[in-house]
Amino acid sequence: MQKLIIEGGNKLSGTIKVSGSKNASLPILAATLLADGKSVLTNVPDLSDMRTMVKILRELGVDIEKRGPGELACKVTTIEPSCASYELVSQMRASICVLGPLVARRGYAKVSLPGGCVIGLRPVDLHLKGLRALGAEIEMKHGYIEARSNGRLRGAHIYLGGVNGPSVLATANTLMAACLADGKTVIDGAACEPEIANLSNYLVAMGATIEGIGTPRIQITGVPSLKGANHEVIADRIEAGTFMVAAALAGEDVKVEGARLEHLSAFIDVLQQTGYIIDQDEDGLVRVIKDRPVTSVQATTMPYPGFPTDLQAQLVTLLTLADGMSVITERIFPDRFMHLAELSRLGANVQKIHSSAVIKGVKQLTGAQVMASDLRAGAALVLAGMVAQGTTEVHRIYHIDRGYEQIEEKLRGIGAQITRADA
Ligand code: EPZ
Repeated sequence: MQKLIIEGGNKLSGTIKVSGSKNASLPILAATLLADGKSVLTNVPDLSDMRTMVKILRELGVDIEKRGPGELACKVTTIEPSCASYELVSQMRASICVLGPLVARRGYAKVSLPGGCVIGLRPVDLHLKGLRALGAEIEMKHGYIEARSNGRLRGAHIYLGGVNGPSVLATANTLMAACLADGKTVIDGAACEPEIANLSNYLVAMGATIEGIGTPRIQITGVPSLKGANHEVIADRIEAGTFMVAAALAGEDVKVEGARLEHLSAFIDVLQQTGYIIDQDEDGLVRVIKDRPVTSVQATTMPYPGFPTDLQAQLVTLLTLADGMSVITERIFPDRFMHLAELSRLGANVQKIHSSAVIKGVKQLTGAQVMASDLRAGAALVLAGMVAQGTTEVHRIYHIDRGYEQIEEKLRGIGAQITRADA
């Protein structure tokens, strides 16, 4: 296993570039299963999760050729029923998004039930509800989901909202399957994340008929087949937000390149409340400028366009040094607070009360050995290490490599003192 060694205290300056979105790329790659013919995807980030999805798709009979940086050419070579190996599917929850395309295109899908993870239970009831509504027969046995359809799926009117609001990947699964169903499908309570809109635009380019893209009501008129298409993956809004927190914490003149601020309204609002001005120049470069002493804030994670749960840990790191008492409440994954214990090791004054983090600002963090527990918690610890006094070692950084492309190279590029080493 590897670790990141960070010497805190450097002032950061320079330009840091945002890569393509992990959470758009994963369902978009799964959607290539729907097409007759070749799709060329661009701006695909080079992440371990992407490499896992590529391996899964190759097992499922998709020929994937890596062309230039971020460019993948994908062509389905068989539509025989097949099963992705447990070893691969169990590594990544997002692999469940091959379920919809497979059952729609091949009439059969067998996918391992995704394991839980440290951010909490990861139920799949909404995925199954959507596919059952379209006429798929679903069985769950021996840790696998088996979905079958006798002939074409049939369009339906589906309410897909869950106890914690919409589900991003359940929306993706149902949307992808509905594109090849016979007749019209209405998905109410659909996720409105930009990643779903990006997926929808790719499906339309393949020949799908979709209305209400990016809204809670998506209407799909099924077509007999879809063709390959060229498509560009959107910028990763969570990576952009992560770099904006780095700029807020330690930046003197950091410019974030490629951020789509229209995807980050709620996050920007919270940053402004804590005392920062967010400026985007005519070249699209984003600066985060400290306008006054950083003060505490209250925020709650919500489905898009609310504050994203994937930026919660990074915000907590920022608030460990803010004057006053902040309260951050998790409405999406109530247990997503594994980073609090690790931040305490760095001297933060944080505690978890029910589904909230209560953060009392301190003057200084001090370096320590800490452990990444999941992708975003790991990123939050790297941010903390960059401002902590002394040396911080972040262990189990394979979590971070799942969702951040060359994180230490990018941060070194703006002056951070950070190196990767064997643990
Ligand atoms: C996507 O996961 C993202 N992953 C997550 O990002 C993100 O945190 C999450 O959406 C919420 O925005 C990808 O897109 C690959 P959900 P997903 O289904 O789709 C409940 C990261 O760090 N739920 O939208 O799996 C669920 O328990 C990752 O990049 C059900 O109740 O999440 C949660 O409370 C972490 N039943 C809420 O919905 C279901 O069938 C939202 O989950 C499915 C979900």
